Amino acid sequence: MCGIIGYAGHRPAVPVSLEGLRRLEYRGYDSAGVAFKLDGGLVVIKEKGKIAALEEALEEAGNFMNATAALAHTRWATHGVPNRPNAHPHLDQSGELAMVHNGIIENYTELKQEMLQKGISFYSETDSEVLVKLVGECMKESGSVEEALSKALSRAEGAYAVVLISNAHPGRLWAARKQSPLVLGLGTGENFLASDVPAFLPYTREVVFLDDGEMVVIDANSWKVMDAATLQAKEKKSQTITWDVQAAQKGGFKHFMLKEIMEQPKVVRDCLTGRIDQQKKTVKLPEIDGLPVPKRLVIVACGTSSYAGMWGKYIIEKMARVPVDVAIASEFRYADPILAEGDQVMAISQSGETADTLAGLRLAREHGIPVIGLCNVVGSSVARESDHVLYTQAGPEISVASTKAMCSQMVMLFLLGLSYAERKGLLSDEDRAAAVSGIQEIAGVLEQSLPAMRDTARHLARSYSSADNFLYLGRGPYCPLAMEGALKLKEISYIHAEGYAAGEMKHGPIALIDPRFPTFAIALADDLFSKVKSNLIEVKARGGKIIALTNAGPGLEVDHPWYLPQVWGPLGAFTVLPAVQLFAYEIADYLGKDVDQPRNLAKSVTVE
Ligand code: G6P
Repeated sequence: MCGIIGYAGHRPAVPVSLEGLRRLEYRGYDSAGVAFKLDGGLVVIKEKGKIAALEEALEEAGNFMNATAALAHTRWATHGVPNRPNAHPHLDQSGELAMVHNGIIENYTELKQEMLQKGISFYSETDSEVLVKLVGECMKESGSVEEALSKALSRAEGAYAVVLISNAHPGRLWAARKQSPLVLGLGTGENFLASDVPAFLPYTREVVFLDDGEMVVIDANSWKVMDAATLQAKEKKSQTITWDVQAAQKGGFKHFMLKEIMEQPKVVRDCLTGRIDQQKKTVKLPEIDGLPVPKRLVIVACGTSSYAGMWGKYIIEKMARVPVDVAIASEFRYADPILAEGDQVMAISQSGETADTLAGLRLAREHGIPVIGLCNVVGSSVARESDHVLYTQAGPEISVASTKAMCSQMVMLFLLGLSYAERKGLLSDEDRAAAVSGIQEIAGVLEQSLPAMRDTARHLARSYSSADNFLYLGRGPYCPLAMEGALKLKEISYIHAEGYAAGEMKHGPIALIDPRFPTFAIALADDLFSKVKSNLIEVKARGGKIIALTNAGPGLEVDHPWYLPQVWGPLGAFTVLPAVQLFAYEIADYLGKDVDQPRNLAKSVTVE
């Protein structure tokens, strides 16, 4: 998501910060900005578009080479469209403080309301401007910037990494974090703050990783970490980074795909941020409050996004009894689809630029059907052309093969199903609370289990990488996951794989089974478990080797049972998804394939 750099030291702070931003470009961004102090006060320059546009704007800003401290930001829009007012840094009401922010302040509407009543004006649509203005308000009753920042943060719900500069204290920067990354770089006569190590790697390899709830103040020659709530000093140890810039951009992982798979706990958390009323245990989707529950929802999507849609169909139909059809966009657009009053169309797209999905969206609108866009890139074509937009919070996805985006789409589809069920009065308070806790527990479960899953995937990849074909089987909500598993394997390892409904196997694919044609089964303990078990016995009877993902304990007669953690009800898909992704990843890596950029594939397919 957003990239942050802060610099205090003996070099010209503005060029160093801009150079740092360039090294964070791989995170994706839609606007950029910088703040620094000159004799006349704080200067904030920001522009929509690329860093080059910011540099051009800087040319007119006087002698920025004199600034000894600066903070800079690349924005990946979450609240408000990509434009100059929404770009960071934002100023407080006195113009004495400037701040950059990465994350989402969940309760920003309430805080903004409070400040509007005090007559404070806002120039952007962002939650970030609300936060810096809150710090400004707190400055009125505080003796120091750290006290004001601490007070403001104690009122902010959600996730943040912030860096702050004050006109009254040249050469000094403050920063704090909660659930968004922030790292301190220690140099000689200079110190850095950044959302990611590559930003300052050419200058120092000595880093301090800040933890949630910590605040730090730096100048050229000193740094101090404190508890953000109590302002008590904290002991922190520095570490030496051995990665090169490229490895650092991948967070130390070998490929972006692996990094993105391992980021999924954070993705689930970010998608849930601001979406749950903790007291009432209800779902908040204000973007579609004005829409009735549809008579029928038609999901239009391509590739991995369409499999997320197919999973969403099971969830929404089961929880909310709303009929859902899923159409592959390239078919839908030419199928002369029957769309009736009361129907709604949902276009799912990570990039928001897939040509077929856009064509489906436009067709629905021509029929006068309301369209909900579910997409990851703010300001993308799907976002702009939909009547209502639900954003996923996966952050930039760089690997061509989509991974974390599907996870984020599934979170949003689950919330949609839950909100329809609530609105139709189909859920008891207990069921609703169980569903809400269930999805809230997923991030923690994944955090704990992903490292072991990766080990299992690596081990299995060694044994199965010589296969020429694979059959992926699943039933019910796991059928789309089987299809996604097969898609991942063929996309990046070039091994032929088919995803099939396990019950349909006997109508064709079973003819292929022999000792050289392995099966990857999804056999979680749900009401279809015994059926899947029987299907696997049929595979075994034909000499086929089987890997089976299961949380059902021992008893499956397969070659390689792969045990997954228990989660609530239908949410097992959140544990299956990283397992199939990691299996495909480890095979492709073992075979030496170009994992992040597989042949013949594009990240965003903007042509038919
Ligand atoms: C391409 C990508 C896939 C992606 C699909 C749909 O084929 O390689 O990873 O799932 O497009 O993309 P979208 O951005 O619309 O979700």
